[in-house]
Formats: sequence, C-alpha cells, structure tokens
Amino acid sequence: MWRDLLPIGRHRGSGGYRRFAWTAADTDCRAWFKAQAEARGLSFELDRNGNQWAWLGDPLAGDAVVTGSHLDSVPDGGAFDGPLGVVSSFAALDELRRRGAEFARPLAITNFGDEEGARFGLACVGSRLAAGQLTVDKAHELRDADGVSLPEAMERAGQDPGTIGPDPERLARIGAFVELHVEQGRALDLSGDPVGIASAIWPHGRWRFDFHGEANHAGTTSLEDRRDPMLSYAATVLAARQQARLAGALATFGKIAVEPNGVNAIPSLVRGWLDSRAADQGTLDTVIAGIEAAAHEHADRDGIDLSITRESFTPVVEFQHALRDELAKLLGGAIPVLGTGAGHDAGILSASAPTAMLFVRNPTGISHSPAEYAAEDDCVAGVVALADVLEGLACR
Ligand code: GLV
Ligand code: MN
Ligand code: MN
Repeated sequence: MWRDLLPIGRHRGSGGYRRFAWTAADTDCRAWFKAQAEARGLSFELDRNGNQWAWLGDPLAGDAVVTGSHLDSVPDGGAFDGPLGVVSSFAALDELRRRGAEFARPLAITNFGDEEGARFGLACVGSRLAAGQLTVDKAHELRDADGVSLPEAMERAGQDPGTIGPDPERLARIGAFVELHVEQGRALDLSGDPVGIASAIWPHGRWRFDFHGEANHAGTTSLEDRRDPMLSYAATVLAARQQARLAGALATFGKIAVEPNGVNAIPSLVRGWLDSRAADQGTLDTVIAGIEAAAHEHADRDGIDLSITRESFTPVVEFQHALRDELAKLLGGAIPVLGTGAGHDAGILSASAPTAMLFVRNPTGISHSPAEYAAEDDCVAGVVALADVLEGLACR
C-alpha cells in the first residue's frame, strides 16, 4: 500500500507532501483509496460531503464499527499524519481475514476529506459538514489563496457541491469510530510503548489578524512618517509567545500574507494566522484575550487598523470513557492513555457517535513536517492493536 501511496503529492524539493483538498494529488489519493476498497471486495461509497467509505457488510444495517483517518496533508507534511490511519485500517482488515474472523457488525474504513484545512483554512471540513458543525452557507464562503471557493474546487474535482450538508442518517449508522494516528509528540517514546490510547483533545482554534497600514517607499519614507503593519505584527508574535508561555499553552503564527510583498515597499497589509491551543477553555480564553490586547496596543501605537477574526474553534473533546476502557481491555490493560493538542476527525465525530483513538509511537515527536516518522515495527504493532480492537468490537 505504501509503495503506491508514497509518491502521490510528494514535493521533490522539500520531500514533504502537498495533498490539498480537491487538488490533483487529493484526487490521486482518493483513487488509491477506492482501489484498495475494490481490491478487498468492499463496497465503495462517496458521501454527500466527499468523504470516502469502504464497507464490509451492509452499510444500512446500523451499529457499524468504523475506522479510518484522512489522506490530505498540511503544506510539506509528513507521510504518516493521516495516511497511517487509513493504511493501518486496510491492513487490520487483512489481518482479521487472515485470522478467519467472523463479523457480527458491519465494518467501514473511511477517508475523511480536507482534515488539515490547508487549502481553505478550516480543518476537518468533511467531518464538520457531515456532523452539522459547519453550515452550508459558511462552507460556501470558504476560499483558497487564489480566491477559488470550496464549491468551485469540488466541482473542478468532479464532486457535486450541491449535496454538501449535514448527514445525520449516515453518522447514525456508526456504532463506534476508532481512528489510528501517528503520535504528534514524544509521550510514547518516553514511556517506551509502541501504542497508546487518546484521552482528550485540547480546545483549539485559528484566528486571522489583519494589520492595515500604509504602503510607501522603503528608501525615502522617514521612520516617523511610516504606518508599518509589520511592526505591529512582529510585536504580536512576541506577545503570543509570552502569553502562551505564561499560561502553559501554545500559540503559533505559522502563516502570513503580506501586501504588496515587495522588498523595497513598506507593507500596506500584514495578515497573520494564529493557531492557539490549551488544556482547558479558560486558559485558552485568557491567552487569546492577552494576545488580542497586545495586538491592539501595538496597532494603536503604530497607527495601524487592526481587525481580528476567529476563523474556527473546536471545544475540548473528552473521548467516551466506555469505549476508551473497552479499547484498553481489548489491548490488555497496560496501555498509556494520553491527551493531545492536535485536532482530528475523531474529535469532530465524537459529538455524533462514540469515538476513540489509538496513537502509534513517533520517536522524534516531529509532525506536520517531512521529518515525521514512525518505525516499521511500531506501525505493525499499531495494525495488530487496531485489528485486536476491531475484532473485539465487530466480530463474534
Ligand atoms: C491537525 O493536525 C491539527 O491539529 O492542526
Ligand atoms: Mn495533522
Ligand atoms: Mn491527522
């Protein structure tokens, strides 16, 4: 499976993946998923929001055990974030068949669309739409950096955008959803375990800061006469780090757009996107309030017009204890349970169905980078753990 998947969307220069929603690379990933489903005699379904499903058993029977993840990536992402969950799902099904397992519940493998939100700015678009956590109107407003709207992009990729919207009937068929994912930290490396179970996902969100100043000549405008939005932006980045450090939270400006983006021009606009996460909502609110106050203070001082827009927010997710405990029992009890600051479709779906996650050790903890890695032995341990879980949940 990896041999066919690894070349798709891989950038020669960086070695990272650029598999953005509804691009050619995404289409190729989707074709790969469909081929894997067909090779195993599974019935393939593309849902109204562009999520892919591969079914063993009757999709309409209900109480299905569903496993899977996503195939899209962040800009220059690693090979494992997303794909490890999908590859492991197919491999776990192969393992169950090798064991001669008899299925008592339908089983489905999924590829949820646009999990990373790299192109349109909002993460987990496929699962959010299905779960009714993103309205159709808001989805229609989403645009990529070139101004292409989500419906236009879907249409160009051959997916009908006219059908997008809540899909409660389909989600009601899920009895349990289990997502396997590469760990995005070093907890398992430090504890010496190949596999762990997720406890919770931190509340997290994305905020857009628009600093409007005045374009002018870099070589002739005195410092006193400038309204330079880069200054306010830079001060805000430092304030974000300080607020996050004080609160024991995380705050990152990882994306920036500058206009006119000329080396010899004072910018007219600096637009920066803040990603911030904390263990609890109160802490996150405090951090955001602190960063916003600092941004306004600096903008006022620098003569800059500032507007701040919250583009997305995901509240804390505590994975269902009953399913978590069942996974731990199926895996022999002595398995680490860890929280994460990373968002996942399993978190979005937790409002609609019992969900759980398995993490596979990442020896460096690096993720959202071409250096993301998991050892083959650990990936195999992940597949065996997922097979054990699916067998316990879905088989006689
Ligand atoms: C998804 O990986 C996220 O947490 O940004
Ligand atoms: Mn990710
Ligand atoms: Mn992921």
